[in-house]
Amino acid sequence: MQPEESNSPTPYQLLGGDAQVRKLVDHFYDLMDFEPKYAQLRAVHGSTLESARDKLYMFLSGWLGGPSLYIDRYGHPMLRARHLPFAIGEIERDQWMACMVQAMEETEVPQELRTALETAFFKTADWMRNREG
Ligand code: HEM
Repeated sequence: MQPEESNSPTPYQLLGGDAQVRKLVDHFYDLMDFEPKYAQLRAVHGSTLESARDKLYMFLSGWLGGPSLYIDRYGHPMLRARHLPFAIGEIERDQWMACMVQAMEETEVPQELRTALETAFFKTADWMRNREG
């Protein structure tokens, strides 16, 4: 047996691979675009969400343990620095989290994985805050 075959599956594998990452990200941005409860989060973004869609998909692929699409193309993510141009406080963080939780539920991410990802997403989203309130 190859060493990698004896390892436990990555979140990427548990999720269901590339098509499921794409589906989760697409649903996340569709919700952000159309649900009034995410209006403040939507307002931080530009007129179109297309570049955000592609970049979050590529980033999550690697972050979940799959192909490092984002790093291969753009280099180190430097996520906090790349979010500095956008005003992110608790409202934006909480709407980002709620939107992601809804997207995970509605794309049927397995419950156990969802719980683990919620904790990990919250740490990242909280780290992105760059203003009070
Ligand atoms: C906390 C609330 C957050 C807000 C308000 C926010 C907002 C934004 C905005 C406005 C952009 C620019 C989109 C564009 O290119 O048009 C962006 C980019 C991005 N965000 Fe977030 N974000 C948040 C949290 C997160 C989290 C938790 C992650 C990862 C788990 C993430 C990953 C990314 C990535 C990978 C990009 C692309 C960066 C680049 O290459 O420029 N964001 N975000």
